[in-house]
Amino acid sequence: MRMFTVNKDKNKDFTVLNIADPQIDYELWDGRATSFDTVRFTLGKIIPKVKPDMITMTGDFADEFGRELYDTIITYIDSFGIPWAPVMGNHDHEDGCDPYIVAEMLSETEHCLFEAGDPALGCGHYTVAVEEDGRLVTAFIMMDSHHRKYITDENGKEVRVNVPYSDGQYRWYESQVDALRSIGCEDSTLVVHFPLYEYKYAWEAARRPRDGTSGPSETASRWNAGYEDSLGTNYEPVEPLVEKSPMFEIAKRLGHTKNILCAHDHGNASSIVYEGIRLTYGLKTGSGGYFAGQNGAAVITVGEKGVKSVRYEYVSLDGI
Ligand SMILES: [Fe+2]
Repeated sequence: MRMFTVNKDKNKDFTVLNIADPQIDYELWDGRATSFDTVRFTLGKIIPKVKPDMITMTGDFADEFGRELYDTIITYIDSFGIPWAPVMGNHDHEDGCDPYIVAEMLSETEHCLFEAGDPALGCGHYTVAVEEDGRLVTAFIMMDSHHRKYITDENGKEVRVNVPYSDGQYRWYESQVDALRSIGCEDSTLVVHFPLYEYKYAWEAARRPRDGTSGPSETASRWNAGYEDSLGTNYEPVEPLVEKSPMFEIAKRLGHTKNILCAHDHGNASSIVYEGIRLTYGLKTGSGGYFAGQNGAAVITVGEKGVKSVRYEYVSLDGI
């Protein structure tokens, strides 16, 4: 298996910045800036402040396939000179985009850690381990959550569904956990694009609606008992297109993955511990695709025993 390693300094936290859904396009945001400008504006503020040791990217590089768009965003992320590890989003598979063309572009990119892996599983299955003093403190298990497709339902209606995870992917995930355990690593984060179904259950369990009766229906101002360590909020329904899969139950049973990171719902940026696993949405970076008001990036802090915290860095686009 392909395992990349990045180094953590002893006695110093290791900081991971997650870029979510840049999904750049040719649209102007608010009539004044391209979506790529909004990404540059956002990361131009966050990167010097957070000084990440690694960047993850939870997919959807561009809204549609165009070599120029992909080239633009890939070259820009690489320009920070920081190791970065992406997964493919649905847009990197759909609307004429071939993820293997993107994978080829990534393979020629200096600081990018990426491995397409076995094509029977999808595009992009690999692990990045964080090493301190010869010991692996945590690892990021990167998986493809595929794309959406149209099918005709029993009423003859065209409906959009996702391509589900496969048994091969579950076996691959288990093999990563086994391999990490065999070399003494006891902590991992699973990184995918689509939220798992359990994000919906987590949100329903944790959220206390604003003022009980009023305010945006999908936001939370306080959290229910037992969920006080939740953060962020969601501005759109947590209704995963992804069918309920055994992925979460497998992660729970193995007890190795303590964090799951996803993206895709541009208006959602919450982080909730549900049944022992922290389920975190990335925070949308830039205005591309559609913009639902939350902008910035998520920050994951790794200590000597693995991931120790998750937070959001918000950037207002008003100043652009
Ligand atoms: Fe997406």
